[in-house]
Amino acid sequence: MIKEKFLPHLHFWYKENKRDLPFRHTTDAYKIWLSEIILQQTRVEQGLPYYIKFLELFPEVEDLAKASEEDVLKAWQGLGYYSRARNLHFTANMVVDEFGGVFPTQYEDLIKLKGIGDYTASAISSFSSKEVVPVLDGNVYRFMSRLIGIETPINTPKAIKEFKQVLVKLIDEKKPDTFNQAIIEFGALHCTPTSPSCDSCPFSDSCFAFTESRIKDFPVKLKKKKPVERFLNFYLVKHEESIFITKRKENSIWKNLYEFPFVESKEVFMKEMVSDDLNETLKLNTVSGPFKHLLSHQKIMAKLMVCELNSTDLIPDDWIKISKLKFDDYPIHRLMEKMVESIDL
Ligand code: ADE
Repeated sequence: MIKEKFLPHLHFWYKENKRDLPFRHTTDAYKIWLSEIILQQTRVEQGLPYYIKFLELFPEVEDLAKASEEDVLKAWQGLGYYSRARNLHFTANMVVDEFGGVFPTQYEDLIKLKGIGDYTASAISSFSSKEVVPVLDGNVYRFMSRLIGIETPINTPKAIKEFKQVLVKLIDEKKPDTFNQAIIEFGALHCTPTSPSCDSCPFSDSCFAFTESRIKDFPVKLKKKKPVERFLNFYLVKHEESIFITKRKENSIWKNLYEFPFVESKEVFMKEMVSDDLNETLKLNTVSGPFKHLLSHQKIMAKLMVCELNSTDLIPDDWIKISKLKFDDYPIHRLMEKMVESIDL
């Protein structure tokens, strides 16, 4: 692909078709960082309200650093992939402690921060300081693999180097920020996964996939392993106007989020209870589910047992008794949300 031909088409297409997104009107690295972390694995329409909310709650990086991790998780609730929120909070503190509260704008500084990988460091540095580094996200992989006909699977370590070599030759050194926004946007809106608009594509003449009628073959991806199936039996235990929740302690993706106590079973729900003694004091009202929840390596099938408790004598130490009304103040994961939405507390 010849750069002199590629750039005018790309810039023209972007000018005519770009979405008016608030984080495209700023060069503030803090705001750009927030938008990019929120938009990882999240569609723009879903992420935008969170970007606005985070800036209202935490207008400066110091505000985010000062907040408790619980408040950050609560603001994040519903977006999933909670390690992003924990890293966000950690990194805000690092920027305050090690960069005097001034968010870095150079790739070499950014890449050292927690939760910032090659894509995010490139995006922040090019959008905030016009550093000439190309961005590679899913949209860009798709667009470039079709245009050039790159068959290296995009989910392998080799891909990043190979695709970058192509992009370095194409990037607009005078406007690397607009170039990067434009290739992301072109992949997101025009060269889409299942129905790319090849008929109106400014690059179709020279697009490998289009001219070879092989659009469906790109991008090439290695098949992922089948996710592990897990069966979780959650207990919503009511006692008068209270319910019991626990806080995840172990280092899992849901660490520090609240949930109903649960027992894992090997297959679909077996009548396994928390303990035989406790079982005797629980009055099982309803069983609902299965609630299905897909994570990157796991498929969770959950059941929700709603129980009444007469006495709290046997309650394990790590169960937290809270009033039903206060439940909304606690950050919970998406699977919990699905279960809570299905019942009257
Ligand atoms: N997704 C992640 N970053 C984006 C950006 N800057 N523009 C559009 N979609 C995005």
